[in-house]
Amino acid sequence: MQLTISKTDQLKNKPDQSRLDFGTLFTDHMFNMDYNTEKGWHSPRIEPYVPISMDPSTMVLHYGQAVFEGLKAYRTDSGNIQLFRPGDNFRRLNRSCEKLCIPPFDEDLALEALKQLLTIEKDWVPGAAGTSLYIRPTIIAMDPFLGVRASFTYRFFIILSPVGAYYAEGFNPVKIWVTRDHVRAVRGGVGEAKTPGNYAASLYAGEEAHRHGFTQVLWLDGVEQKYIEEVGAMNIFFLIDNELVTPELNGSILPGITRESVVALAKHWNIKVSERKISIDDVMQAHDSGTLQEVFGSGTAAVISPVGQLKYGDRTITIGDNRVGPIAKKLYKAIMDIQYGKTADPLGWIEPVC
Ligand SMILES: Cc1ncc(COP(=O)(O)O)c(C=O)c1O
Repeated sequence: MQLTISKTDQLKNKPDQSRLDFGTLFTDHMFNMDYNTEKGWHSPRIEPYVPISMDPSTMVLHYGQAVFEGLKAYRTDSGNIQLFRPGDNFRRLNRSCEKLCIPPFDEDLALEALKQLLTIEKDWVPGAAGTSLYIRPTIIAMDPFLGVRASFTYRFFIILSPVGAYYAEGFNPVKIWVTRDHVRAVRGGVGEAKTPGNYAASLYAGEEAHRHGFTQVLWLDGVEQKYIEEVGAMNIFFLIDNELVTPELNGSILPGITRESVVALAKHWNIKVSERKISIDDVMQAHDSGTLQEVFGSGTAAVISPVGQLKYGDRTITIGDNRVGPIAKKLYKAIMDIQYGKTADPLGWIEPVC
């Protein structure tokens, strides 16, 4: 399949790099590709960034048959642009497609198209510390039809957005609310897919947490409401008695690429790592016995997000004196240094772009 490129002659003004926030500005071009049952995936193309026009009956608007990804392009000190494990994002996107009955796409073609798009948009990749160009590949169901079934037509698009440093106000621990009333995903559902419904389902509890002065929700499993799953839109880690524990992938947890990187790096450093079931009671007991050393989330946006306080029912526990622990700090620096090309890439995660 031939990728076609048509460029705009009306370039937008680039933003002030010291005032970037998240997801508000978009670059000049986007990638598009369509699917229908006769041609399969076809017409991959880079075009000017424009709104998508759709019929009000378009299926994605009604039944949420859609999947997406989130990754970043980084500018190194020498001005090169690079990606962190992009092949894993496209593999996960295809796994999400399978869950949502969306036909699979060619991952090599998608990565090649992304690299070409980034090459065209390289001046949009900011260079200030901690900034990056956020990449949002998305696939949506396009049939104009109100019946409930999988769509016969789809649009795959990739848009790019320059984003500021996540920790503009410092790398500080956050307060987490363990919800007992709401669940994000259930056994047999679509929790392991990156699909909009999971995020819609998380809003109510998130707003409740904010109302009570907490930053994020800690999700328990949807069956027994006992085992820990995720924190906000991140995976979660506990350092207990020098063992790094993260919930095992069980179908309702998103298999985070940062999670996998944390596990791999910790093993590389000879830290004992376990992917297993861990209950909220285990965490409370570890705290009471003095063995709960660190808690942190992991995800593309923040890389590592240390947790300083956990509220569960009537109890609020403080972790590590509400300070960032040494393992969280070391992982944060190690992953950021690899992403920004400040250090060697011991596990082969970097994909150079231009
Ligand atoms: C629900 C959820 N869990 C975990 C993650 C972390 O995944 P990753 O490390 O691939 O960004 C994300 C973010 O993408 C997410 O949305």
